[in-house]
Order: sequence, then C-alpha cells, then structure tokens
Amino acid sequence: MRHLLDIDDLSTEELSELLATGADISKNKEKYMDICHGKKLATLFFEPSTRTRLSFTAAMMELGGNVIGFSDPKSSSASKGECVSDTIRVVSNYADIIAMRHPNDGAPLSAAMHSGVPIINAGDGEHKHPTQTLADLMTIQNHLGKFDNLTIGMCGDLKYGRTVHSLIVALTRYKNVKFILISPEELKLPRHIKDIITEHDMQYIETSDMNKYMQELDVLYMTRVQQERFVDIQEYLRLKDSYILRADKLKAAKKRICIMLPLPRLNEISKYVDDDPRACYFEQTLNGKYMRMALILKLLDEYKKDSSVGREIKNQAEPIMSFSKPLKCRNPHCITNKDDDLKQLFVSDDNKVYRCAYCEQEI
Ligand code: CP
Repeated sequence: MRHLLDIDDLSTEELSELLATGADISKNKEKYMDICHGKKLATLFFEPSTRTRLSFTAAMMELGGNVIGFSDPKSSSASKGECVSDTIRVVSNYADIIAMRHPNDGAPLSAAMHSGVPIINAGDGEHKHPTQTLADLMTIQNHLGKFDNLTIGMCGDLKYGRTVHSLIVALTRYKNVKFILISPEELKLPRHIKDIITEHDMQYIETSDMNKYMQELDVLYMTRVQQERFVDIQEYLRLKDSYILRADKLKAAKKRICIMLPLPRLNEISKYVDDDPRACYFEQTLNGKYMRMALILKLLDEYKKDSSVGREIKNQAEPIMSFSKPLKCRNPHCITNKDDDLKQLFVSDDNKVYRCAYCEQEI
C-alpha cells in the first residue's frame, strides 16, 4: 500500500504529476468537487496545527468527502495511554485515508506498519514534513517556473525544522541546486541531511550571516526557531530572534527572489515585507491545500487499484533489518522510545552506516 511518510516515497515523475494535478485543481475546482463522495479522511493531530490540519480538512471537503479526527490528543484515548499503533489500527476501520501529525520522530512508519489504509505524514517531531514540501514545490514552480539551477537559502532553525529537511531532500533530485545554510552554530542542519546533499554532488555553504549571500538567492526560506523541541528554555530565548527578515535586508536581493516561510510566524519576517510581491508565504498555505487534494486523490486511487489490500490489516511489515543483539535507537524523541512494543528496525547505506528505520538517527 502506498503511504506518504517521506518525500522520497514519491518519484520525480510522481512529483511532477502531483504538481500538474495541483495546478489543474487550482484552475478547475468544480471538476474535482465530487470525486471523493462517500470517502472519509481521518486527521489525527497529536500536535498543534493550523495550516496542515485545516488545509487537509478543506482539501477533503472540496473533493466532496468527509473528515473525522481530533486536533488535540487530550481529547483522544492517547490521553489514557493508548499507543499510536493501536489508535491507527482502530481508525483505519473508520476512514479511507489518514493524515497524522505526531511529536515523536518516526511515528508515521509505526502507523503505516499497523494501518489498513494509506497514511500521510503531516509532520513528525523534528524529522520530516513531506506535505509542506509539496506546498513549497508548487510555490517555487509558480514563481520561478523551475527547480534546476537554483540557489536556495535556508535560514533559521535548520536543526529542528522538519520542513527544511524534507524540502532539501526533495530539491536534491533536480539539477545543480546550491544550498546556502544560514543558522547559528547550535541550529545547524543535521549531518545526515548534509550527507544527502553531497551524495547528489550538490554544493552547500554554511554561514551564520544572513546578508552575505543575499544577492545570489533565488529562494529565501525562513524558518521559526522551534520552541517545542528545546529542552533548555534559556537556550531557546537566546536563539529565537537570531534572524529577522526586514525590508531593508532585501535591497540586495534579486528582483524575483521567492521569500518563503512555512508559518506560523513569530518574529522571523517583518510584517512590512508582506506586501512585497516577492513574499510567497501566504500563497504557500493555499498551494498546500491544492497539493493535499492532489495527494489524497493519488493515494486513494492507488489504494482502490490494489485489490489485494483488505480493510483489516493482517500482518505487520517485515523488519527492514534486525539484529540478534538488542539495539535501541538512541534518539530520545524516536517513537521506538515511546512505544516499547515497537520492533527496533534499522537500515544501512552503502557505507555501512546503520540508522533507525523510524527516525533515521545513526546508531
Ligand atoms: N506549516 C505548518 O506545518 O503549519 P501548522 O503547524 O500550522 O500546520
């Protein structure tokens, strides 16, 4: 069964198809208004959200379907201690497709292993946020018309910013993309994402200076410092206003720079920038709805075609790699360290580096 746990679950051709469908939906809404009649989307949000949850809800409603779910785990049996895998197993009896956000890295893999219906990762911890990437790609395409030969500035919290991780992974599949990684030392991009850039023979530069490369950038992707991931509140307070994009900083920028921000905004971009025609962040939220509509259609269509899949899940997925000696993922935020009954699974790359299959932490 197809799920969307990571942007790499989609081939480049499939991304192009989704972008084409998203564009068509944006122009021909009436063509799609009844396609999901009788279908239900479950939105299971174990973490707060405005854009992602409501755009999924609007997406399913505009496709003629219905939506069930919860926006706060306190109102679900998670508050009584129910594990993700049991919740998913139950909800896949009630819905045709599930969009889930969870504070633990790798929770979507656990969900997919126990689901009878397609799972969409709506953001897991500091790990990935693939449907935000779909919104981001549509926005870049609409403004710049291409993904090749771009210089992308990523600015702010590159360590905990899951939208950054997914977008970089997506962009490495195109040609000659250069990344300018702008962050304080404490919030640098994780090693394994930098490795993905170099594995694709692409260049990245790390800097703490927001102004230094401004004139080169085709995209400036600002991010919020993710308070919810910090253990030390003092450190958060020290870092939270590391970068504020004000209108004067854009004087050196290209005429067609695409200024992006996944939102919510605290202080990352001055409101005076909002009226600049290069500011794309509110358009990103609209594009998110169109791309989530396209994704729902694709996953439901493939689920329908796969006649071997029953409504009730019969077996757990086979281990990707397991060891005789018990190994534990050392990421304290990994879902395997929350749900003790989950199998520890690991994957290795060509260099024999082993990673947790759920959260990708190196072991
Ligand atoms: N961009 C994003 O994920 O926003 P929400 O947290 O409001 O869903």
